[in-house]
Amino acid sequence: MAEKETTNSKYQQFKRQPRLPKFALPKRYDLKLKPDLTACKFSGAVDISVDVVSDTKFLVLNAADLSVRANSVHFTSSSNKAFDAVAVELCEEDEILVLEFAESLPIGVGNLSIAFDGTLNDRMKGFYRSVYEHNGEKKNMAVTQFEPADARRCFPCWDEPACKATFKITLEVPSELVALSNMPILEEKVNGNLKTVSYQESPIMSTYLVAVVVGLFDYVEDQTPDGVVVRVYCKVGMVDQGKFALDVAVKTLGIYKEYFALPYSLPKLDMIAIPDFAAGAMENYGLVTYRETALLYDDKHSAAANKQRVATVVAHELAHQWFGNLVTMEWWTHLWLNEGFATWVSYLAADALFPEWQIWTQFTDESTEGLRLDGLSESHPIEVDINHAAEIDEIFDSISYRKGASVIRMLQSYLGAECFQRALASYIKKYACSNAKTEDLWSVLEESSGEPVNKLMNSWTKQKGYPVVSAKLKDQILELEQSHFLLSGSPGDGQWVVPVTLCCGSYDSRKSFLLQAKSEAHDIKELLGASVSKSSSWVKINLDQAGFYRVKYDDDLSARLRHAIEKKYLSTMDRYGILDDSYALSMACQQSLASLLALMGAYKEEIDYTVLSNLISISAKVVRVAADAVPHLLDNIKLFFINLFQYSAGRLGWDPKPGESHLDAMLRGELLTALALFGHEETQKEASRRFSIFLDDRDTPVLPPDLRRAVYVAVMQKVNKSNRSCYDSLLRVYRESDLSQEKTRILGSLGSCQDPEVILEILNFLLSSEVRSQDVVHGLGVSREGREIAWKWLKDNWDQIVKTYGAGFLVTRFISAVVSPFSSCEKAAEVEEFFASRMKPFIARTLKQSIERVLINAKWVHSIQNEENLEDVVTELACRKS
Ligand code: BES
Ligand code: ZN
Repeated sequence: MAEKETTNSKYQQFKRQPRLPKFALPKRYDLKLKPDLTACKFSGAVDISVDVVSDTKFLVLNAADLSVRANSVHFTSSSNKAFDAVAVELCEEDEILVLEFAESLPIGVGNLSIAFDGTLNDRMKGFYRSVYEHNGEKKNMAVTQFEPADARRCFPCWDEPACKATFKITLEVPSELVALSNMPILEEKVNGNLKTVSYQESPIMSTYLVAVVVGLFDYVEDQTPDGVVVRVYCKVGMVDQGKFALDVAVKTLGIYKEYFALPYSLPKLDMIAIPDFAAGAMENYGLVTYRETALLYDDKHSAAANKQRVATVVAHELAHQWFGNLVTMEWWTHLWLNEGFATWVSYLAADALFPEWQIWTQFTDESTEGLRLDGLSESHPIEVDINHAAEIDEIFDSISYRKGASVIRMLQSYLGAECFQRALASYIKKYACSNAKTEDLWSVLEESSGEPVNKLMNSWTKQKGYPVVSAKLKDQILELEQSHFLLSGSPGDGQWVVPVTLCCGSYDSRKSFLLQAKSEAHDIKELLGASVSKSSSWVKINLDQAGFYRVKYDDDLSARLRHAIEKKYLSTMDRYGILDDSYALSMACQQSLASLLALMGAYKEEIDYTVLSNLISISAKVVRVAADAVPHLLDNIKLFFINLFQYSAGRLGWDPKPGESHLDAMLRGELLTALALFGHEETQKEASRRFSIFLDDRDTPVLPPDLRRAVYVAVMQKVNKSNRSCYDSLLRVYRESDLSQEKTRILGSLGSCQDPEVILEILNFLLSSEVRSQDVVHGLGVSREGREIAWKWLKDNWDQIVKTYGAGFLVTRFISAVVSPFSSCEKAAEVEEFFASRMKPFIARTLKQSIERVLINAKWVHSIQNEENLEDVVTELACRKS
């Protein structure tokens, strides 16, 4: 066994370092693994061809949670000279394995061999076990999840994205099981109950992309025109649910081949649904793993939103096969290159496959989420320093994904789609099988476009935050001023190179320029001249929300825009942006709630899915803050919202129309959910009626999947401790369903209950063995009435939760979901105090962000309470006829 770390260890020079010393670099791994699915253990042996590049007696690589057999460690030089390790030390805290040899190793290639043992853990990372049922019996499967830095929990390796090598993998597994890895099977030898499966050697790749899955599965298969074999693996007997994803995958490979001007680089692509899975999906080279909800589609019981999720997740993971797997970030600081790009590209594919989804309009939701997080002082730059593996998990966040994708969209729209694609293709070609940094991408783009890409983009990726551009119109001169937008209202000090686009009175009369200074004035006389009536013509800045910034209009310009919305002059994305900016400005106390409500009133005939969906979520947030700030106005505010949604709700009705659009199907559910939440009696009643029919017949057409969430939310709202039959029934549906999407839908609806006692019961149910730990996060969003009990519950169960989840992003969701809904400074202080003695590096960022949100809410509440004309405005709006 390896020596345990001692406090006065000799190897201090290798510790507390963000990266490994590069005395030697791995070229090829020959890895053998033998999982024991019954005992939940594994043993392994690895031969690593390493290139010793400097004179050293040490080899330092990563390992964690493994026991390395000290006398198994040997180094053999190319001239076949053997070197035995004189000391083998595993430093658990630094997750490194230090090997010391008696003499210096010869420069050049040699072979390092190590044998080791480990546990198939329950934490959904490293080499872990997932549990499934087969013929009524519980069984284990063995699965890997290595990103960001958990390959080291499966085998000793140079576990950094830049240390690329080839992998030759061999598994020894029970002969009746399916065993998959990145590459196709080379050979399979059965020997009694066991079989040895060896796979072809992979092309050069990073350790975080290595994958192995062992269990019982069926599959469906197809081929691309190039002969790449694509399979979707599902639970035995459930292959029909894999067909949709299979079809999307085959087509998406074709789309990317063309877009990146390079075909998919492996001979096969497997995609597999794993019952216990921490993330949504993982892009392992040639063996993409998914949560069931993100891969499986059931014709009868999946909703339109589920279908869209499957398509976009598949498109995202396949984008990584180029962006991430072929060209890999040099270090985690550039994680956004992987995630931001894959997110952006997935919209390109989804749009090509399903134009009727208007997915680019829906992209505005990505930007909104990015803007929301980046409006906090506790945000971070897209390019973020990473000094320890434990810090990586927390940056898989809306900054890397959504702000990342949004600034890419901004750049694409500035450079033009064709120029952008050409440059991307040459970037992929240039860095294929290698690693790249953010500036490498900018250089290629700068070179092929001739535009100052570096300067423009550095201002967006190297500093946190984004600007709000304030616009005033005086004598046909448009005055623009940029300042750092923070939801807390505190002054920020950033400055950006802002690609400004604007239109006056018509989409034909437009202008674009880079705003580089703090403020600039633009004469727009000519632009205004083109429109019919100067005094009423509108000015919209940031066309189609292509820029990652907010716009604050003066009162006159705001009024003109409101009018233009009512008259339906504006594009969908512009209508979306005006609303979303106004909401953010209101939360930041830069604009009154009254003016936000007045603006919302302009959307009474809105029919677009994305705009309405945001209108609904903004309404829900306004109802929450109003309940804290102005409870006496709450009924009227709800009444106003109910009226606002009548137009669309009336158009859609309860029952799906034959052949209706995907967007209408999604919209109906969201509208009805909102109406139920705002206490609309008729909706409530109809929901209960349909729910009872459904309980007798789960396939009833009166409750199609698209309506279920609305109905579940509606019936749960009425549940209390003396009237709990709907809750019990819903739990029964949960227990009887074997579709994860159905289970998730139910978990996400339970919290709308308003009775704290029942809420506590629900929260405890979440921690029971009936809910997989991957799914608990879906149930954490509880009603306002339940937030206090949820906080108490979190405190009571915190130690247990940390034990179950360990370091990792799932644990941070508990904090953000439970803490962020509060709105008082006292609560912020209480939260801070509770966590002071429980601080861990992997929750630090999320905790600070959640506390900041509470303080922002508190300030907003205060400001709403001081609004003078709010009551009049609300009364007036509530009385308006729909
Ligand atoms: N590379 C990630 C998976 C991942 C996430 C690994 C977090 C480690 C930590 C994968 O490509 C991904 O981004 N998955 C997303 C789904 C996607 C459609 C946004 C996810 O897991 O949510
Ligand atoms: Zn990704």
